[in-house]
Amino acid sequence: MTGAPSLSGGYAPGFGNDFETEALPGALPRGMNSPQRCAYGLYAEQLSGTPFTAPRGQNERTWCYRIRPSVKHMGRMSRIDLPYWKSAPHVDPEVTSLGQYRWDPVPHAGEALTWLTGMRTMTTAGDVNTQVGMAAHVYLVTEGMGDTYFYSADSELLVVPQEGRLRFATELGVIDLAPQEVAVIPRGMVYRVDLLEGPARGFVCENYGQKFDLPDRGPIGANCLANPRDFLAPVACFEDRDCEARMVVKWCGAFHESRIDHSPLDVIAWHGNYAPVKYDLKTFSPVGAILFDHPDPSIFTVLTAPSGVPGTANIDFVLFRDRWNVAEGTFRPPWYHKNVMSELMGNIHGVYDAKPQGFVPGGMSLHNMMLPHGPDEDAFRAASLADLAPSKLEDTMAFMFETRFPQHLTRFAAEEAPLQDDYVECWAALRKRFDGTPEGDW
Ligand SMILES: [Fe+2]
Repeated sequence: MTGAPSLSGGYAPGFGNDFETEALPGALPRGMNSPQRCAYGLYAEQLSGTPFTAPRGQNERTWCYRIRPSVKHMGRMSRIDLPYWKSAPHVDPEVTSLGQYRWDPVPHAGEALTWLTGMRTMTTAGDVNTQVGMAAHVYLVTEGMGDTYFYSADSELLVVPQEGRLRFATELGVIDLAPQEVAVIPRGMVYRVDLLEGPARGFVCENYGQKFDLPDRGPIGANCLANPRDFLAPVACFEDRDCEARMVVKWCGAFHESRIDHSPLDVIAWHGNYAPVKYDLKTFSPVGAILFDHPDPSIFTVLTAPSGVPGTANIDFVLFRDRWNVAEGTFRPPWYHKNVMSELMGNIHGVYDAKPQGFVPGGMSLHNMMLPHGPDEDAFRAASLADLAPSKLEDTMAFMFETRFPQHLTRFAAEEAPLQDDYVECWAALRKRFDGTPEGDW
């Protein structure tokens, strides 16, 4: 566990809001950003999450009023090695990524692991240097980071817990995170991860590209799917603490560290729209077919990170939660398909309808660019012969990180993680039902 003090928390609702919050009265300047002298002797500092000139609707920055400016939170950097955290491009010539893959949950190995040492990269896509693509990780955390602090200059992190509870003590405030919630930690945001209940395991989508945003709802209108008010940003809280601390920075795929003599979580007040958020997946209001057919899974998009090409996401984060199945005369599970996008799925809780067996909570699957997939024989047969009364898919929560770029397996994913060698056999029992008669051979 960490020796760090407990921070008081609290949240303000909204997605992309212009928040303002202060932990001490009068710490936040009124009517201006950069007073000649700030209250309490604080330093004013801007954190820019988008270029200065980004269009207004996408422009994100936050003004921080802090005990020390960030230049005091790092010194001379030296390289360190975190061998299991990989960044794209990372194409191992010994590893085959062309295939359909599925993994059992990555087990806890009994060793003490933090947010940094316990990060296990499964796939990478795109290129961290050109700020396109992503990496998919599993984290295994058994202890807090103590007096180590971290930020990624490469990426924002979408965190999807599956077991255990974590505390993200960030510059802008505290986010406590449990399974069936997600958090987004912005690029450049300094934080420490404490363990509230362990061991903890979950999934991370490391987004090298443009920030995650809410998808346009189009004809759905102004409501449903993920609603802005269900996102929570932390209120300001701070540490004024001298200690032997370490700042770790991820920058262009490499890790560096620097020694400092105090906690960098020293922001006493802030205002702006560039902030970490959490979101309860149980507040996602799914919309689907209410008469017939099975829509594209994009109907379940929670967050989307654009690529610059309209309609072509760098990453979509898609949620398959409990819901009613009511479509008439319809094959209700996901259909067979091949997709230009690459689909990495994880199971958070329960049973997934297209694969009743083998895809368990904590497990993952990968259906890479233009590789066919779909229901197994049992799911196909059951759904083809089912009585189509309204039925509820219960006790289920799975997600997908879907990217326009092919995902390359790491050596860890191919050799150390519990890969199911027989996964492709799940389609072996599918047989020819064509016999020349309109009814087919059932
Ligand atoms: Fe798919």
